[in-house]
Amino acid sequence: MRVIKVEDYTEMSRRAALHFIDKLSDEKVNVMGLATGGTPQGMYKELIKESKKRRFSFKYIHTVNLDEYVGLRADDPHSYHTYMRRHLFDHIDIPERNVHLPDGTAGNPETECERYEQLIRDLKKVNIQLLGIGENGHIGFNEPGTSFNSRTHVIELTPSTREANARFFSGIEAVPTHAITIGIETIMEAEEIVLLASGKNKSKALYHLICSNKVTEDIPATVLKEHPNLTIIADKEALALI
Ligand code: GLP
Repeated sequence: MRVIKVEDYTEMSRRAALHFIDKLSDEKVNVMGLATGGTPQGMYKELIKESKKRRFSFKYIHTVNLDEYVGLRADDPHSYHTYMRRHLFDHIDIPERNVHLPDGTAGNPETECERYEQLIRDLKKVNIQLLGIGENGHIGFNEPGTSFNSRTHVIELTPSTREANARFFSGIEAVPTHAITIGIETIMEAEEIVLLASGKNKSKALYHLICSNKVTEDIPATVLKEHPNLTIIADKEALALI
């Protein structure tokens, strides 16, 4: 595990965007695993800026997002589909057929999980996976207690996660109760993982990930200790307990 300590959110976003664009090739198929939430917004902005500067094309890039809320249509303003379009896809030359997110409105969510899992398998491997981290240590929407052997599945969101994400909705009651998330085993198969964290509300989760010896399903992010190529880019506040 490599830990890159930066001053603040702005520096974290810039470092992360450069890390991604340096790793990606615009001449062959590359697969990026993408995340949502407040944390990667700045990184996406920087990635757009830097790709324009370098005339980097996303023509051969495929993206696979971590998760989507169950019940929200792709065009719902609060869906992760909309988030991704707003913060990244609408601003780069990626072909629409190359971007993938779970369908939160699929008639049968279990079948949708199988479809999504197969889609990831068909892409062969995720070259670089972006992750944020929940205050309770969740990754994607793999809440505490999720099996380390999990593949794409439906999860019931914890009250604390719904509360943390209520800021993106009109209130907590508007936050869906379930989501489709790729599993922990699926995440661990990525060739490289880059985890971003900013702010003191992430400091406990980072402490467990970086300092404690415990690898436990109670704190899902601790599994990342076992990944052979993990980079954490975090600001001073998030690393305050390290
Ligand atoms: C959500 C997302 C996660 C994200 C987490 C933290 O639960 N499903 O992928 O890492 O929130 O979000 P934020 O970056 O807003 O703190």
